[in-house]
Amino acid sequence: MMSVNLKGRDFLTLQDFTKEELLQILDTADYLKMQSKFNKNEKLLEGRTLGMIFEKSSTRTRVSFEVGMHELGGYALFLSPKDIQMGRGETISDTAKVLSRYVDAIMIRTFSQNIIEELAREGTVPVINGLTDDFHPCQVMADFQTIREKLGRLEGINFTYIGDASNVAHSLLIGGAIMGMNVKMISPKEFSPKEEVVNLAKEFAKKTGSKIEVTPDVTDAGKDADVLCTDVWVSMGREEEREKRIEKLKDYQLNQTILDRANKDAIVLHCLPAHRGEEITKEVIDGPQSVVFDEAENRLHVQKAIMALIIE
Ligand code: CP
Ligand code: NVA
Repeated sequence: MMSVNLKGRDFLTLQDFTKEELLQILDTADYLKMQSKFNKNEKLLEGRTLGMIFEKSSTRTRVSFEVGMHELGGYALFLSPKDIQMGRGETISDTAKVLSRYVDAIMIRTFSQNIIEELAREGTVPVINGLTDDFHPCQVMADFQTIREKLGRLEGINFTYIGDASNVAHSLLIGGAIMGMNVKMISPKEFSPKEEVVNLAKEFAKKTGSKIEVTPDVTDAGKDADVLCTDVWVSMGREEEREKRIEKLKDYQLNQTILDRANKDAIVLHCLPAHRGEEITKEVIDGPQSVVFDEAENRLHVQKAIMALIIE
């Protein structure tokens, strides 16, 4: 099933990959998921080690990477900045060079995208983005796997995102455009996606023939949507803006009125953790059209695929 060779590549943002490469990851994820359902996990990374640095909290990313590496026959080490010297000021560059001598890949969850880029530049092993302030590419690959499972395709899908234009939203814009999805982002002006991300998504969309729309207008939100998605109003690291964000985002909630306007078989995504009553209502996230736990499960399968394909 191998058609493109991704060995040795970093996984920092979706814009670094072609549609064919992303499809290869999704096909591999489907294959590994099927294997795991029959308890037949292939040990594709026997004896390999993944270093995992978490500068922010995590449930899904931490557990899915650690379990995923175990299922592939490898080993994952959890590195807390509280314990490693990076937390006491050792440079990113030295950390990258040293870790590269011990582990076969590094996964990092951090703040600025520059940190992850520096780590990748200075180290010699593949680096995987486990979330930055700007992007969350592993999450969006799990979202794509889920959409394909539920709706059978990505191309031509009408994807509507409502709420804060978070790291997840940025990756959805870029990834959606590459895969040929029509992406509509509905956010208040102050919390709309970064201009350079929108421009880049529009460039990709020109090639794939998809439509990218960014608007603060909530009238008719949800109309014609095949997929509805949101994310928390207060992302990690933005806690001091909590009150302002809740006030500005209160009209941008994914609720039943919006879901009722969507296509009959529309599905609801949320990367989790969720705040019921803020960005999404309980009725919607716990309702029959929500697939958020399949989406969370797919983090495991898609990240196994990413690791199996990029780690030498
Ligand atoms: N969706 C997601 O990345 O969850 P965690 O913060 O729990 O890893
Ligand atoms: N946008 C959220 C995603 C959490 C998985 C955050 O950055 O906190």
